[in-house]
Amino acid sequence: MGSGGGEALVSVALDVQIAVLGLAALAVAGAAGPSLRAQQRDTVPDKLAVTEPVYQGWKYYQVYCARCHGENATGGFTAPDLLFAITAEGGVTPDSFRVVVHRGTESKEMKGFDPLLDDELIDRIYAYVRERSAGRLAPGRPHRAPPPR
Ligand code: HEC
Repeated sequence: MGSGGGEALVSVALDVQIAVLGLAALAVAGAAGPSLRAQQRDTVPDKLAVTEPVYQGWKYYQVYCARCHGENATGGFTAPDLLFAITAEGGVTPDSFRVVVHRGTESKEMKGFDPLLDDELIDRIYAYVRERSAGRLAPGRPHRAPPPR
């Protein structure tokens, strides 16, 4: 019996499990500290404040990418630093980012994320990585920017 289909199923099931775990963890973390946020707002520039799409990108990044590319996208034991990858020197453009996430890498060390992630979600993940790469977003857990006062 071929094992290919079985493997794919297990991999999807795992991904779903990770997604559920990840979102549960986010829900718990979400309960913390609005007062700290208010304090930060009035002092130093807030390098954890992001727009809604970037926030979504961070969430999906944590669920699908962080285990290999690191919690803050700076790379892991086996996977490259994405903050460097998307610079001019790193050579990954918004388009090639999309393609590699859809299809996986040639080596297949990273499998494609079809059909779990569509273009819109991949673009949000890219937006998160871009904010980190450009130094506009600090490492750690971002939060949605408060509306301008
Ligand atoms: C199972 C581990 C793993 C996961 C999960 C993973 N990656 Fe990767 N990724 C890799 C490895 C390993 C490479 C580089 C080696 C290779 O070419 O296969 C890579 C390469 C890449 C590259 C190309 C980098 C370059 O310089 O060419 C991009 C972009 C990328 N990953 C984005 C992502 C995104 C976005 C996610 C989440 C949706 C993700 N990866 C999830 C392991 C992973």
